[in-house]
Amino acid sequence: MKKEEFPKIKGKLILAPMAGVTNVAFRILCKKLGAGICYTEFFHTDALQKGNVFDVVKEERPVVTQIFGNDENKLYEAAKSLVGKTDVVDLNIGCPAPKVIGLGSGAALLKDLKKVESILKKLSTLNIPISCKIRLGVNEKNIVALELAKIADKYCCAIAVHARTLEQGYSGKADWSYIKKIKESVSISVIGNGDIDKVEDVKRMIDQTGCDYVMVGRRAMKDPFFFRRVNHYLKTGIILPEESFEEKMKLLLEYLKLCKKYDCFEVNNFKFLFVQFSRGYKNSSKLRVEVSKIKNVEELLHKIKELC
Ligand SMILES: Cc1cc2nc3c(=O)[nH]c(=O)nc-3n(C[C@H](O)[C@H](O)[C@H](O)COP(=O)(O)O)c2cc1C
Repeated sequence: MKKEEFPKIKGKLILAPMAGVTNVAFRILCKKLGAGICYTEFFHTDALQKGNVFDVVKEERPVVTQIFGNDENKLYEAAKSLVGKTDVVDLNIGCPAPKVIGLGSGAALLKDLKKVESILKKLSTLNIPISCKIRLGVNEKNIVALELAKIADKYCCAIAVHARTLEQGYSGKADWSYIKKIKESVSISVIGNGDIDKVEDVKRMIDQTGCDYVMVGRRAMKDPFFFRRVNHYLKTGIILPEESFEEKMKLLLEYLKLCKKYDCFEVNNFKFLFVQFSRGYKNSSKLRVEVSKIKNVEELLHKIKELC
């Protein structure tokens, strides 16, 4: 079976899939600031079949669309519906949310590698590159990452490894040594993920693990400028200062414009990003309390414009 390739991208950085965050507007912003490729939020197979959640646009491609589910045929149909509309279809094998696991999908698949193999094998018959994003295993006594990577090596173009177990959730530290072991044992692209917070962390992960790409989640959610600073560091060795609060607020207004353009504006999402973007700046906690009380979009915009 011919294995399709992961798209050629600029640089080493990838925006992680984040539900409620990586909509089309956020992806375009991150790409402009230096992410080589972005993952969509995850889409359940049933939602995709209804046809109203898919939000990829031409301007942002290449892009990776993530799907989740448990039913092999539904996953196949969902992926098939994406052929020609996206560049890679990624299977979620790591989401720890109880609702997702309860459906036997996401990280629940870590318990059934035979099923994973069967799903990936079927998906790989489609005319589109397939990838997967995994966690290490259910817990430290049941690490399956290497076995899973060997399966992915047969059917996928890339594997993204969030180097934590399901039981860890987001606590503890990501164990990058597994990313290294996986990189040494497969021939597909390996994307390291977990705990990238400082500009230097990206180089540290590449040096320690040999991974092909580095995926950034929470840090990018707070600060899409991160991609630009990391690329500058990788090129020059110079760490630029973080952008000012005003610049962050201007970026939020740019995000708003994109939301309007692509019809994906939601007030709660916008408030959530305000909270994320404002973290770490002087007096920002007071501001966040003020903003949390705002109910109407105009008032919110007025407040942000005042801050620019
Ligand atoms: C708000 C939020 C939503 C997320 N949604 C998804 C998702 O839809 N699919 C997925 O594979 N991972 C999801 N993740 C996990 C991230 O993609 C990433 O693996 C994780 O945050 C670790 O990377 P980081 O340390 O750079 O944040 C989500 C994480 C966050 C914080």
